[in-house]
Amino acid sequence: MGQEQSSPVDESVPPQTLEDRSVESVAKYIRDGHAKKIVVMVGAGVSTSAGIPDFRSPDTGLYSNLARLNLPYPQAVFDISFFRVNPLPFYTLAHELYPGKYRPTISHSFIRLLSDKSLLLKLFTQNIDCLDREAGVPEDKIVEAHGSFALQRCIECKTPFPEDLMKQAVSKRDVPHCLTPQCNGLVKPDIVFFGEQLPENFHRNRSLPCTADMCIVMGTSLTVQPFASLPSFCSDEVPRVLINLERVGGLGTRADDVLVLGDCDAGVRKLAAGLGCEKELEAPVGGDQPRAKRQD
Ligand code: OAD
Repeated sequence: MGQEQSSPVDESVPPQTLEDRSVESVAKYIRDGHAKKIVVMVGAGVSTSAGIPDFRSPDTGLYSNLARLNLPYPQAVFDISFFRVNPLPFYTLAHELYPGKYRPTISHSFIRLLSDKSLLLKLFTQNIDCLDREAGVPEDKIVEAHGSFALQRCIECKTPFPEDLMKQAVSKRDVPHCLTPQCNGLVKPDIVFFGEQLPENFHRNRSLPCTADMCIVMGTSLTVQPFASLPSFCSDEVPRVLINLERVGGLGTRADDVLVLGDCDAGVRKLAAGLGCEKELEAPVGGDQPRAKRQD
């Protein structure tokens, strides 16, 4: 496994695995059957076109827009020590972000397409919006590295809390408490807060990128560890494709790194075109509901 360099690969250095460092070449490599175990690593950028803000984009990112919650610092909304003292800001935000209001994006559909074609080894996501599941990516293919809204439990005695009561609490912006007699601890979705351990499923699968034959990173700033290190576990000769608004995390430093800088839906559309599956990509998800944010 190579050490990441900090500067981009010299353009005059030829790639070792791909014909060239282009989307077309990546598509050809897949079409020719060389990539059958693709790991995909994503963050909030794959959901922005659904209407969910990312975290760190200047102006539009969540962390620039939390003044209304009166937090000591933006990340406090996801900090377990702060939550114990003041859970209300998190539940105010949960009301806005709770699954059910948003529809999967083209980027989510692309991941489902890889899975349908038996090309997806694993999806590692930092997102808590469950849109990959909604797009039809099988649950056993997904590693929710930062947890999700799918389950919830008491932060003290760990007793699971019923989903219907959670939905009620979130819709009323109430803070739910444990139903176990004498406990009354705070209930929190199984989202990994700063100060908490990542799920067992992440640790079980974190070395999987070593066995991948392609890596696609989309819509993440790769700033939060240990997730941010996952692309570096891929072997040196394995093509790594970054589809993101900006260059991040040392991607672009290896001979077979391909940078597709721009909107990720546009990037996967290009890749799908190269694979000859644009129509499948655009097929409606879960019936004929629109992809855009639902109007409640
Ligand atoms: P960030 O907000 O840090 O990064 C999002 C990345 O996606 C940035 O590089 C954006 O430029 C890019 N981006 C945004 N919209 C895009 C689009 N339409 N097309 C392509 N790229 C786009 O979000 P994450 O990397 O997901 O942790 O953040 C990682 C973790 O930090 C989150 O899981 C969360 C947060 O604190 C927890 O909640 C524990």
